[in-house]
Amino acid sequence: MQTLKNLLDSNRIWAENIRTQNPNFFTDLAHQQMPEYLWIGCSDSRVPANQIVDLQPGEIFVHRNIANLVVHTDLNCLSVIQFAVEVLKVKHIIVCGHYGCGGIKAAMESKVHGLIDNWLRHIKDVYRYHQATIDAVENEQEKLKLLCERNVIEQVANVCHTTIAQRTWKAGKELSIHGWVYDIEDGILKDLGVCVTGLDQLSSTHLLKHYRAKDSI
Ligand code: CO
Repeated sequence: MQTLKNLLDSNRIWAENIRTQNPNFFTDLAHQQMPEYLWIGCSDSRVPANQIVDLQPGEIFVHRNIANLVVHTDLNCLSVIQFAVEVLKVKHIIVCGHYGCGGIKAAMESKVHGLIDNWLRHIKDVYRYHQATIDAVENEQEKLKLLCERNVIEQVANVCHTTIAQRTWKAGKELSIHGWVYDIEDGILKDLGVCVTGLDQLSSTHLLKHYRAKDSI
């Protein structure tokens, strides 16, 4: 039987170091979590949410999948968003992509990768929406970076279009959806400047009538 002893040993040292700095750290956290942020990021091992923004356990709620997608029918992601917004009452949702994303690169290829090709179809759709702009870029790396950014912007829109976000805004509660990209080459986050904070920023195609302001019905 393999026990991954190295990881278990590292865990004991890590927990001991934290207890040395704050003896109540784990007992306090065991009672409740009150994170202010929901992070929706890529599963890539080089993009660990807590470490990038230097937050401790208990400070950020995290959902990760390949290429940080928010798919309209993904009950896993939707459940995370609902729990984060309605129960934990996070005020900020950060969709974070990253340059050098294997999912973005694979989506641009026509190779067979297996089951994951079905997941990557969502990124192909983003490419299709912006094909003229992306194809106009000659440098292959820059092309992938642009698709990475457009994918984040698309996923920010997908979060905004959920009934969860619309219901929250309709109730007059504060919720900001942010789009960021992380550069694995220098460790720096870039804000894409696409923050959405209310129903008035949604396109009419996705704004649910029930959630519209009275004067716009
Ligand atoms: Co990735």
